[in-house]
Amino acid sequence: MHKIHIPVLLRESIDSLAIKPNGFYIDCTLGDGGHSIEILRKLSPEGVLLSIDRDQNAIDFVKSFYNEESKQDNWKIVKANFKELDYYAKEIRNSADGVLMDLGLSSRQLEESHNRGFSYLEEKEPLDMRMDMELGVTAKDLINVLPEKELYQIFKIYGEEKYSYQIAKAIKRNISDINTVGDLTRLIYKVMPAVNLHKNPSRRVFQALRIVVNDELNSLKEGLDNSFKILNNGGRLSVISFHSLEDRIVKQFFLEKSRSGEGELLFKNHIAPTDEEEKQNPRSASAKLRTLTKHDNP
Ligand SMILES: C[S@@+](CC[C@H](N)C(=O)[O-])C[C@H]1O[C@@H](n2cnc3c(N)ncnc32)[C@H](O)[C@@H]1O
Repeated sequence: MHKIHIPVLLRESIDSLAIKPNGFYIDCTLGDGGHSIEILRKLSPEGVLLSIDRDQNAIDFVKSFYNEESKQDNWKIVKANFKELDYYAKEIRNSADGVLMDLGLSSRQLEESHNRGFSYLEEKEPLDMRMDMELGVTAKDLINVLPEKELYQIFKIYGEEKYSYQIAKAIKRNISDINTVGDLTRLIYKVMPAVNLHKNPSRRVFQALRIVVNDELNSLKEGLDNSFKILNNGGRLSVISFHSLEDRIVKQFFLEKSRSGEGELLFKNHIAPTDEEEKQNPRSASAKLRTLTKHDNP
């Protein structure tokens, strides 16, 4: 088995929620359970934690790794898209004291993907990229079905990839030869100018395909809205993002709420990992934590 995901900005994000032992908290992104277990440990038996993940493998992993704790009555674990968190939350309480989102993929999903091809390093895996295997469209379907122009736009908008045009063109020309992660990464390698080859040339294209397959940015927008609605007065919403597209959405949402007086930013700017955390967990390097406190009476 691969190593468990190391939770990012753990102390900072848990502190940001100001957990009350009897409160109701929602972890929208269970992953390997690193943040959830910390929240659970701060709750009394009257407090409740609802943890959500859209990946059944994540849920199965947590239920076996935290076998004892996951049987506690006050830890509810649900497979769902967090954009629907209010539906599941309302079955527990009318309002929540805190919501946490730790966006993207866990390192275990990248390294032990169950043949879903999330990582451009896993050459033999198919181009699938669905976090929730009940979703209908895979990354391979996208490159098959979408015309060159739309692929180009996806790489440009969701990957911020400079060579989107060349990559989309090469994909459509060679579509019958592209089945696995390795087929796509080798093609991108050929298309990229030599000066860019030291920087994981496939990273941005993989990010773009994953965002579209999983409709990640729309889920985030809806998830933020519904999280804010379910919070009680003084409740906290904390979000850890890992790339500029996610962070822009979070930042804009938080600024709107703070300008309208419905919310207050806990930190003037975002919180970033310390040098020490970055050294111990290089995956944390791009993380940004933002927290909003809800006010009912602006
Ligand atoms: C970075 S990991 C979370 C890691 C976790 N905090 C930990 O410490 O182990 C992100 C998780 O969120 C899940 N996820 C991403 N988008 C989601 C969504 N819209 N709804 C539900 N789960 C989602 C992914 O499947 C993944 O397991």
